Amino acid sequence: MPQPSRRLEKIPPYLFAEIARVKREAIAAGADVIDLGIGDPDLPTPPAVRQALTRAVENPETHRYDETARGWLPFLDAAARFYGREFGPALDPATDLVQVIGSKEGLAHLAWAYADPGDVVIVPDPGYPVYKVNSLMAGADVHEVRLREEDGFLPRLEDIPTDVARRAKLFYVCYPNNPTGAVATPEFYRDLVAFCRDHDVLAVNDMAYGTVCYDGFKNPTILQVEGGKDVAIEFHSLSKMYNMTGWRLGFACGNPDAVATLQRLKSNIDSKAFPAIAEAGAHALDHVSNAETVALYQKRRDSLVDGLRSIGWPVEKPKAAFYVWARVPQEGMSSTEFAAALLQRAHVLTIPGVGYGPGGEGYVRMSLTLLGDRDGERFAEAVRRIAASGLVPT
Ligand SMILES: Cc1ncc(COP(=O)(O)O)c(C=O)c1O
Repeated sequence: MPQPSRRLEKIPPYLFAEIARVKREAIAAGADVIDLGIGDPDLPTPPAVRQALTRAVENPETHRYDETARGWLPFLDAAARFYGREFGPALDPATDLVQVIGSKEGLAHLAWAYADPGDVVIVPDPGYPVYKVNSLMAGADVHEVRLREEDGFLPRLEDIPTDVARRAKLFYVCYPNNPTGAVATPEFYRDLVAFCRDHDVLAVNDMAYGTVCYDGFKNPTILQVEGGKDVAIEFHSLSKMYNMTGWRLGFACGNPDAVATLQRLKSNIDSKAFPAIAEAGAHALDHVSNAETVALYQKRRDSLVDGLRSIGWPVEKPKAAFYVWARVPQEGMSSTEFAAALLQRAHVLTIPGVGYGPGGEGYVRMSLTLLGDRDGERFAEAVRRIAASGLVPT
């Protein structure tokens, strides 16, 4: 066999091998592992969306290629209506939107559409690895901006060296944030718009968790800010919003040139989603609310965070996304050591923060999407086990 391309060598090694091994051993020994690792909605896709898919499948129009430029038109129309209702700004489906095969695909291909060797792509650390890996594979240099707790996990734009800003083409951010659960402010977006305008950079906001918000909070968007549409593209996903991770559907919206550039690359790579899925997605965006799912996550969040606080682990309550990002409570233990110890002693699986970049060291991530939990009871059980493990100093 020929050697794979050298670009594949830029993919960093899998950091969770040790955790995966301990998990396998625990399960083989008959342990009941509470897996707070994966961020994948545990509830099924709402019945109204499944029924819309069934109807759409019966229409032979959906069995053929979607030959539109940017995506299934009823889906793009519904996405524009959804965006206006949810966030305010009016989007033109003909110029401001493109359908993606899940936001991961779009976020990855945007790097390929913009970044050349010698360019810089700015990415958050800790962060969802897709931005960095694809920028590296495209040959760009990556500049990681540290997200610090004392800054609300927002990047310090003033710390970005002028030379980096000058060479930068893309600046990825993600709010509501994975892995920290942090949210953005309109002031931050205003600063980011100014930075991107001054340095001719495209701001990329990953809003995969844009509608998973608690206590009535609404995450702002960069397109709400004056001048946002001049410099920004946003990625939205039906995955987390409607428990549709397996369906692979989302959209990018914002600056028409950026949208067209992404579409130009995509039209040479993929032929869009199965139109019946896009049709069902349109129905979801127009008619389905995710309030019940969010209410369940909120209950679980309270069960987990209140419980951990009661046993002496001071943990922030996220306002959005479905992750609890907690400081390792053991002095001198790395996030990987702590997660491995927790798995061994409590059979509770968490993700070591370092898996999201060096800036995640000192933290573990716990997901609120736990298969088999009905009402927060498994989170209460996780807290009992963590307390009994002795790993949280009292
Ligand atoms: C921050 C972030 N962005 C994007 C995605 C990709 O979501 P999808 O491709 O299912 O839309 C994920 C998935 O976990 C994520 O955590």
